[in-house]
Amino acid sequence: MKKIALFLAFLFFYTCTECRLYCQPKSYTFDSLQLAAEYDRLSDPQFNQGRELVSLLKIKRADRVLDIGCGTGRLAAYVAGITGKEGKVIGIDPSPFRIAIARRREKSNLLFKVAGTEELSLFEDNSFDVVYLNSVFHWIADRAQAMVEIYRILKPGGKLGIAMGAKHQDSLLVSILRQSAQSVLGYIPKEFDVNEYQREADEALELSRESGFKIKEIKTRHYVDLFRSGEECIRFYEASSGGSLLREFPDFQRKKILSQIEERLERLKTAKGIEIPHNILFLIDEKPK
Ligand SMILES: C[S@@+](CC[C@H](N)C(=O)[O-])C[C@H]1O[C@@H](n2cnc3c(N)ncnc32)[C@H](O)[C@@H]1O
Repeated sequence: MKKIALFLAFLFFYTCTECRLYCQPKSYTFDSLQLAAEYDRLSDPQFNQGRELVSLLKIKRADRVLDIGCGTGRLAAYVAGITGKEGKVIGIDPSPFRIAIARRREKSNLLFKVAGTEELSLFEDNSFDVVYLNSVFHWIADRAQAMVEIYRILKPGGKLGIAMGAKHQDSLLVSILRQSAQSVLGYIPKEFDVNEYQREADEALELSRESGFKIKEIKTRHYVDLFRSGEECIRFYEASSGGSLLREFPDFQRKKILSQIEERLERLKTAKGIEIPHNILFLIDEKPK
């Protein structure tokens, strides 16, 4: 009897642990119009890194451009200013809330659609000069399929640009997440493994080669994001992740971890605010002519 009880306890513990680890909400299931509006207001860090990506892609007048995971469309609107009326920019995003805000920016050369990388069959072969993903790569479930589809829809000589978290992310925020999780849960979850960023970057390079792209440029840049308070910083990450930040934990644990994070962030506040340093990797691929 004791053995059966022990076995059942083990099975229960094992199933729960596995489920928590692997059922991470890798989607925008928790998104809302309010979070999307908040993102639009707080997303200067992504917008600034996006402008750098656009400059590395050398987007020019009359180009046809696809912004995958365009969010609320700030960067796509900026790019439409470069391509001009002779060009066309299409922004797609699976979150209807993000697209609802992006649509306020629509004009003759700028269009938005609710769609993700899973719906790239919407677009014809060889139909874009440039495709880019700004802070989106890690959200995609089937990245190999997405890369094959992006290759198909790019014109020969067309470029793909990816901006994503880079190595050396054992930075402030990640170590704060790890310390907070350790003090609430008593262990550091697999999700807070700092090597995850490097694995994703390596995967982007590997998939680029496997799908037939020529790698044109790889560049890492250091940024420092500035927040007025711990609360504002958490709101930014909540809005960036479509509300899925730490959703893999039960609500009571999630709240405890979030309040620990906020407390630790507040301790870092100076007269300038809270500075969060991080690195972004820029990858520029070309479809051979
Ligand atoms: C951090 S936001 C970046 C938004 C925008 N690119 C920017 O620079 O502000 C990540 C975006 O990826 C989108 N996303 C999530 N899964 C996706 C998928 N499978 N295909 C395309 N976009 C996706 C989300 O809805 C979200 O808007």
